[in-house]
This record gives sequence, structure tokens and C-alpha cells, in this order.
Amino acid sequence: SKNWILMATARAPTNIAVIKYWGKRDEALILPINDSISVTLDPDHLSATTTVAVSPSFEKDRMWLNGKEVSLSGGRYQNCLRELRNRAGEYTDENKGIHIEKYDWNTLHVHIASYNNFPTAAGLASSAAGFACLVFSLAKLMNVKEDLSQLSTIARQGSGSACRSLYGGFVKWTMGNEMSGSDSIAVQLANETHWDDLVIIVAVVSSRQKETSSTSGMRESVETSSLIQHRAKVVVPSRILQMEQAIRNKDFSSFARLTCADSNQFHAVCLDTSPPILYMNDTSHRIISIVERWNRHEGTPTVAYTFDAGPNAVIVAPNQKVAMDLLQRLLFYFPPARDNELSSYVLGDKKILH
Ligand code: PMV
Repeated sequence: SKNWILMATARAPTNIAVIKYWGKRDEALILPINDSISVTLDPDHLSATTTVAVSPSFEKDRMWLNGKEVSLSGGRYQNCLRELRNRAGEYTDENKGIHIEKYDWNTLHVHIASYNNFPTAAGLASSAAGFACLVFSLAKLMNVKEDLSQLSTIARQGSGSACRSLYGGFVKWTMGNEMSGSDSIAVQLANETHWDDLVIIVAVVSSRQKETSSTSGMRESVETSSLIQHRAKVVVPSRILQMEQAIRNKDFSSFARLTCADSNQFHAVCLDTSPPILYMNDTSHRIISIVERWNRHEGTPTVAYTFDAGPNAVIVAPNQKVAMDLLQRLLFYFPPARDNELSSYVLGDKKILH
């Protein structure tokens, strides 16, 4: 019968890198030139929810993003779908009279519906949550029997940073050595309960779409920046070790110092690119000054900031009290009524998962 449908739903949050991934050594497989470390956010904020379905009545693979149909013809979607179909398992439900053989997945089509619980155009990383969720939900639907690290190699081929969103807590993406990318995987450093008093504030500086995509930005940096080589070979390997130790020991001042330094070096690499890439704007720079002044006043880093490929600030505080104090300070400098250069704040702690 062609009258059955099978569905699966999953939710995945986005993640914020504290040691940044910037630069690929293989663009098709999405293999990075350095390791990176991130914090996965609470799924109540900035997450994707994806429902996937399969039915013999579906005539082609289709996808909807926030209710609007989008094309699946891009190489990244195609790579993820191919990798998942290669690993799909058989499935039987005798009550419903459904039997799917492994090879049936090559001819069966899927429908994918994904929603972000935040405005898609907000310029906040959505591809990390989106691809992690797409891969995880399809793996469930297709009865793929692989662990999360194996699934992370598939999510990585959708968007590099997506591989880190399969785990909660603190996650390292190891660059790996293999040409095939088989060892370029995400591993969990500590789960979401390990350091759960951390609070993350996302200060939405601009909801405009970023001007230089991370893909072309990375390519231009790898081709023209000399700083990026020093960063990937010398600076990041040592920072990765220090960051792992800071996370293990819940040493906030080391964590904050490394996080800010790494964000600043990533943006220095962007400025060292020809033509230069400017992701931060005046408001971003003002936020850096406010946080730096605050930390200097306290004598030790009490909050950390980090910026991705856009002007929005991600601020990490060691606990709710410090987060509220900082938020009050930010609202003093950026009163919502007077100007709207800082449009909103998203509060979350790093808990998660599926
Ligand atoms: O995976 P992409 O293409 O979204 O690139 C992410 C790059 C940064 O967000 C700037 C850094 C990172 O490690 O997430």
C-alpha cells in the first residue's frame, strides 16, 4: 500500500564557539584548519525543531523552512541526504503493514519541515541548529544506527559549526587528519550539568543579514591572510588545551580571558583579509569597551564577550547575579526607548538536549 506515512521530530539548539572555527582545508567535505570549542545553548532559545516524514506517496524530496518551501538542490543538503541514505537501516511495523528494506531508502522520498524559535532574519547563527536537527531527525526516521560522533561527520557536511550542536554542554570539534574527514568529528568535553550556573546573553545589535557569508569569508581569509596561518598552527592548539582545562576546572576568569582573546583574534584575521571583512560595527565595539572596562574595574574577567560572523554580541556571565548586573549596565548605555541600535536581548543558560 502507498497509504502509510512515518514521521520523526527533533529539536536542536544553536551553539556559540568560544574558540572559533575559521578556515577550511577542504571546502567540499567541510574540513577545518583548526580545532574549535563551543557551548551549546538551552533549546528554549535559538533552536530548530524539525519534523521529517517518509511515505511511498511522496514524489520527491521537499523541504519547508518556517513554512516556506526551500530548495534542497544545494550540495550541502544533497551530501547530508546521501550520507544518511547510505547508513539507513531496515524498519518493520507489522501492525501498520510497513516494511522498509535498507535499499528502499534510495527510492523513498522525504519531506522535511523545520522551524526556528527565533526570527530567521535576525542574523543569528541558524545553520548550526538547522543542520544538526535535520541530520538527527532524519537519522531517527531512517533508523540509522550510528552514535552522535558519527552523525556529527554528516552534520558537518551541512554546516561546519552544526557538528557541534549534536551534543549539549561543552563540545570540541577535532579537525582530524584523514582526507575522507572520518576523524573530523565533534566530541563532548562536559555535559550540560557540568557548569550550569553560566548564563548567556545574546545582544541583538542588528537583525540585518550579514554581508559576507562565512563560506566566502573563510575562503578569502585562507587565500589572503598571513595571520590565519599563525593562528591555526600556533595560537589555537595552545588555546584549545587551556580552554579544556578552564572548562574542566570551571575556572571562569581563564575561560573569559581565552573567549574574548579568541573572538578578537578571529576578527583580526578578518581585518587581515584582503579586501578586509568587517563583521562588527560601532555598537559591537562599544559593547567590547563596556565589558573590558567592567572587567578592569572588577580586577578579574567577570564576563566574556564573543562575536561570530556578524555584529551581534554573545556575552557569557558566571551566574545569574552577574548577568543581571551586566544587563542593567547594557540597558543604561542602550536604553530601548532612546535608540534601537541594540534591539533585544535573549537570555539563556546552557542546558539542552533532544
Ligand atoms: O559553520 P559556519 O559556516 O556557520 O561557520 C561558523 C563560523 C563561526 O561562527 C564564525 C565560528 C564558529 O566556530 O562557529
